[in-house]
Amino acid sequence: MPGRARLPCQTPKGDLLAMRMTAIKTTLAAATLAVTGLGVAAPAGAQGDKTAEDWIQARQDNLASAAAATKSVACSLKGEGCPRAFDYLTLQARAIAHAASMAPQHFRKGPFPDAQVETAALPKIWDEYDQFTQGFETMEKHARDMVEAARNEDLQAYAAAFKKTTDACSECHDTYRED
Ligand code: HEC
Repeated sequence: MPGRARLPCQTPKGDLLAMRMTAIKTTLAAATLAVTGLGVAAPAGAQGDKTAEDWIQARQDNLASAAAATKSVACSLKGEGCPRAFDYLTLQARAIAHAASMAPQHFRKGPFPDAQVETAALPKIWDEYDQFTQGFETMEKHARDMVEAARNEDLQAYAAAFKKTTDACSECHDTYRED
């Protein structure tokens, strides 16, 4: 019934919802403005009060999820009992590509020498941030090639792109991660 979808907006509750949405939109607009106006030296409060530990956890979780997908792919390619269907291989590759695309944001702040949690990120990351994040671009590029290969159902091309992807992991770890 087409009329049904509009019904909630006609009730007082619906009006309240509409008001709330407007308030949310206004808040979002203000937040967007604040973010757009942010310089490198933005006050901590404008970053949503994320602590050093939050930043570290976010970047570690992101890379842990990339590693989970990487292990699944390795298991598939070695025929160790993980699914080998191309849709599955596509999803894993997309997860790796996505982690790569998110990573530079997670590393935007650091090195947090006084953080209460362990981090293996070397401080020089923040001296050479652009060079460092190029490693994630390389990782993403090869992961996208994996996606493409899986879509073409080309296992050989997929494996070759996977090798390049994992080379990008080790290359960066050798330079920017503590052993
Ligand atoms: C451009 C650099 C870079 C690339 C590329 C990169 N990593 Fe990392 N990785 C790091 C750094 C730096 C850390 C340490 C983060 C920390 O401890 O705060 C890390 C941490 C990790 C961790 C530990 C996370 C945890 O729980 O503490 C895993 C697992 C990992 N990376 C896997 C991968 C895999 C798999 C790839 C490739 C598919 C990859 N990384 C690509 C820089 C990189």
